[in-house]
Amino acid sequence: MSAGTPASGDAAARASEAVARAAELSRALTERLAAARAQIATETPEEKPPADASAHGPRLVVDAAGGMAGAGADEAQRAHTASLIRRFTERTRTSKELAQQHRSVLADSRAVVGFRDATKEMLYPVAARSAHGPRLVDVDGNTYTDITMGFGALLLGHEAEPVTEAVRRHLADGLRFGPRSPDTGEAAALLASLTGMERVAFASSGTEANSAAIRLARAATGRDKVVMFRGSYHGHIDSVLGRPGGPGQHAVPVSRGIPDSAVAELIVLEYGEQESLETIDALGDTIAAVLVEPVQCRNPGLRPVEFVRSLRELTARRGIVLLFDEMLTGLRPHQRGAQDHFGVVPDLATYGKALGAGFPIGAVAGRADLLDGVDGGFWRYGEPGGPARETTFIGGTYMQHPLSMAAARAVLTHLTERGPGLQSGLNDRTQALADRLNAFFRDEEFPLELAHFGSMFRFRHRADLELLYHHLQLRGVYVWEWRSFYLSTAHTEEDVNRVAEAVEGSLRELRDGGFFPRSAPRPGAAVKPVDAPRPAPDFGVYFFGDYPEPETGESAGADRAGTPEAYDALFETVRFADEHGFSSVWLPERHFDSFGGLFPNPSVLASVVARETGRIRINAGSVVLPLHDPVRVAEEWSVVDNLSGGRVGIGCATGWHARDFALHPDRFADRRRIAFDHLDEVRRLWRGRRCGGVRARARRRRSGSGRVRRRRSRRSSWRPPGSRPRTRRRPGAVSGSSPT
Ligand SMILES: Cc1ncc(COP(=O)(O)O)c(C=O)c1O
Repeated sequence: MSAGTPASGDAAARASEAVARAAELSRALTERLAAARAQIATETPEEKPPADASAHGPRLVVDAAGGMAGAGADEAQRAHTASLIRRFTERTRTSKELAQQHRSVLADSRAVVGFRDATKEMLYPVAARSAHGPRLVDVDGNTYTDITMGFGALLLGHEAEPVTEAVRRHLADGLRFGPRSPDTGEAAALLASLTGMERVAFASSGTEANSAAIRLARAATGRDKVVMFRGSYHGHIDSVLGRPGGPGQHAVPVSRGIPDSAVAELIVLEYGEQESLETIDALGDTIAAVLVEPVQCRNPGLRPVEFVRSLRELTARRGIVLLFDEMLTGLRPHQRGAQDHFGVVPDLATYGKALGAGFPIGAVAGRADLLDGVDGGFWRYGEPGGPARETTFIGGTYMQHPLSMAAARAVLTHLTERGPGLQSGLNDRTQALADRLNAFFRDEEFPLELAHFGSMFRFRHRADLELLYHHLQLRGVYVWEWRSFYLSTAHTEEDVNRVAEAVEGSLRELRDGGFFPRSAPRPGAAVKPVDAPRPAPDFGVYFFGDYPEPETGESAGADRAGTPEAYDALFETVRFADEHGFSSVWLPERHFDSFGGLFPNPSVLASVVARETGRIRINAGSVVLPLHDPVRVAEEWSVVDNLSGGRVGIGCATGWHARDFALHPDRFADRRRIAFDHLDEVRRLWRGRRCGGVRARARRRRSGSGRVRRRRSRRSSWRPPGSRPRTRRRPGAVSGSSPT
């Protein structure tokens, strides 16, 4: 058939119909796929890897195309991510340059943790310039409240005075690397005394300590098998880098490069499950050690007390060494670490991290007969005999490193002197953080929760929340790639508040960017019937209106904008309202426009109102926050608060028109975010906190305390005047603590 015949016309019509149907089908499929991806992006638990990948230990496989900002993100979410990337990379420009500059030569596994296409521009380790107490300053000069705290090592904060002093003292007489440091024996005695263990051997890292402990257990029992539990991490020696899935009960390696033979004697069981106890019992005669991270840092909420106690009884009965890996839990929640929580004394326990306060260290502590495998056991000069037991191989160039020993001795001395109150106070502070944030997550319907054990904590997600951590960094909270967090004794209540505010602010910003929409109207938002008689409504006076410029040559009228008479009328009205029982007066802020033009600065007028009245509340309605330094806002309104005897309230706004932003045209586009940042700062200052930031510090130097001093307002008010409903919801959401 040739083109142009009726038959070919039919065929062409059928073909184009088929093409149209196929196109429709393809469109529908694409939409469904995008919806499914979006669903996965917000609902897949972070910790659930693909079936063939492993989340075990340091290996977590992520889908490079996935994540919150990945293929399933909608337009608003992508725009949000783009803005976040821009702000993040501008702020930490030098860290990014360093990562790029050295990538060709520096092979750095940490620099690619969590790699995703959509966020790779923000994927680089922040490089630090200085650190002290709970704070870090990066190479770009940004200050962070640190919650990474040296991966848990800095229990006493950065540069803890006793540790720094001990190390300095040691170095003052030379490193003395080679001979024994006198600190070593004292550190061993202090560790034994605090943990209730009999003998101690040192190593250079946690991994080395676990390696030595396993070797000691195998040597003592003459058995080879080792049991550990899924979700735990015990360092980077091959023999513990396995996950379930091998033949029988045996493990398979977590990554290439680890031979099957390395994990051939490793069995990985479920933590806290009865079946695991039964397996151990069944294999009892072949197991040298059961290795337990009593509270796993990836899952601090899992604390199976009865299971661990049964394990203690079972291992004792079957002659198996019970080995607690207390790298993170040691010394932190309690002097005796997790032993105290479980009421269980293991045969061996390994320590590191907090013990060295940032200096490389590991330690094996435990029953003397097991530790005798290191040196053959106790003997005396001047008496017959020597090391009686057969030893196993334990060693290392940097074992008992003099600086680590000086640091460990200082840490242990400090903990001994301060007693268990040190840990319990810190645990309480972490509990308060958890309570506050968990209430916030629940009330605001965010899909996460904060789980903690003592001062170690982690956010458990019911959705992908990767961008949260970038927001936190942007808001000055230092988080690291593996997302397990720690408070230290250097963190004050104010530091903890700062962290909480950063988490809350970040999540709100994400919601504004289209992530985690509320599922339903807020409980309590519905109007409830009220049985009791309700008070009559209060009346207030609100000044607003259009005040056009007078025509040239026109004589001034009594109600003309900008004239003294207009202000006279205002004060007269306010005095009337004050005398006649009105509850409040509201003074707006507008700039360079006839609409609201009488009111470029509500605090100036409010200070006059404060002296002209004696009772009525005086409210800013509203301060346009992006236009002002928040320190200035807090200062000015604290003056009015003092002048009025504590009668002020501050309503805040994001601003309306570009014309209003004549004071800061550059801030109009980003006004909502800036408003909420400034709001956080005003609230902090209003609560009597010190000013942060360089400029504020300069002010502090000039003015003394740096605190905003104000009278306590009798009652605080908060008015969310943002014109768009989306904006209006946000202040409502933070009204738990009032800005005045
Ligand atoms: C529970 C646990 N065990 C062992 C280790 C290994 O310690 P290190 O990194 O000092 O070798 C770690 C490290 O994070 C750990 O968290």
